[in-house]
Amino acid sequence: MCQCCSEKKDIYLPQLATVAATESMNVTEKYLRLTMDDGQFNYTPGQFVEVSIAGIGEAPLTISSSPTQKDGFEIVVRKIGNVTNAIHTLNQGDKIGIRGPLGDGQYPSEEAKGRNVVFICGGIGLVPQRSFINYVLDNRDDYGEVTILQGTKCYEQRLFADEIAAWEKRGDVQVLETLDEPNEKWSGKVGVVTKLIPMVKSELKSAIVLVCGPPVMYKFVLMSLEEHEVPHKNIFLNLERKMKCGVGKCGHCQINDSYTCMDGPVFRYSDLATMPEAI
Ligand SMILES: Cc1cc2nc3c(=O)[nH]c(=O)nc-3n(C[C@H](O)[C@H](O)[C@H](O)COP(=O)(O)OP(=O)(O)OC[C@H]3O[C@@H](n4cnc5c(N)ncnc54)[C@H](O)[C@@H]3O)c2cc1C
Ligand code: FES
Repeated sequence: MCQCCSEKKDIYLPQLATVAATESMNVTEKYLRLTMDDGQFNYTPGQFVEVSIAGIGEAPLTISSSPTQKDGFEIVVRKIGNVTNAIHTLNQGDKIGIRGPLGDGQYPSEEAKGRNVVFICGGIGLVPQRSFINYVLDNRDDYGEVTILQGTKCYEQRLFADEIAAWEKRGDVQVLETLDEPNEKWSGKVGVVTKLIPMVKSELKSAIVLVCGPPVMYKFVLMSLEEHEVPHKNIFLNLERKMKCGVGKCGHCQINDSYTCMDGPVFRYSDLATMPEAI
């Protein structure tokens, strides 16, 4: 039910939003800042939205901004098919449909308070992590030591390079970045993101560790965290599954008894013990 009246809310009905700003980040990724036309949108880090383009379809996309940012919310879209191609054609002022925010499995913003927090991001995995990174940085005194590890395939695919540089400049965050395949413009670290884990200055064993990246990355990151004796209950993984309804009705995103759209997309690793096929 709608909280302010007795009307039943249609969970499949998108609300109108306006594209407030867009920027092409590279050949495949586009950044968009959106504002809801009715002005109402409260979310927490880790949630996603179903974005719809009239006559084409809907796609689940993670909210990349932090709720501490009050001017709308941000998404980053990789061009891969019908809906995402259509989103890439949008310009400032265009209208778009939004369902959400969706996903009850979010980042552990309360549990992480007072603890060291380590973000391990691979490629576009930075997009969801960025929401919680900026949330933590905007509430810096509430958290212990903060570490951000980012691995990207090549120089052209780096996302939010200016923002990463700004995080580095703060002095109260350890930021380590690496490229799999460097070019002449890159003078930083080379190799996959797991290479950075032994360079983390803060104690890993007691930290809250947040992981998001391509499926292949999870296996190797988890092996490394095991070597560093990080308890499974302290590790949170952002999982992606094909989705349709986004609200626990269609079963498209089901893993055993869990729905990625409802119980995730952020899962505690120890909760995945009975679902080995999840990773
Ligand atoms: C919770 C969640 C959050 C997401 N957040 C983001 C985000 O922030 N930014 C972003 O760019 N993308 C994100 N995605 C992926 C995004 O939803 C898909 O890329 C999108 O739905 C593709 O729609 P399309 O119509 O453009 O492509 P389609 O025409 O449907 O598909 C094109 C091709 O991509 C493949 N494909 C489609 N969806 C997926 C998928 N989920 N995983 C693997 N392959 C797929 C299809 O099999 C097909 O080969 C997220 C997905 C989920 C489930
Ligand atoms: S997408 Fe329909 S149940 Fe999750």
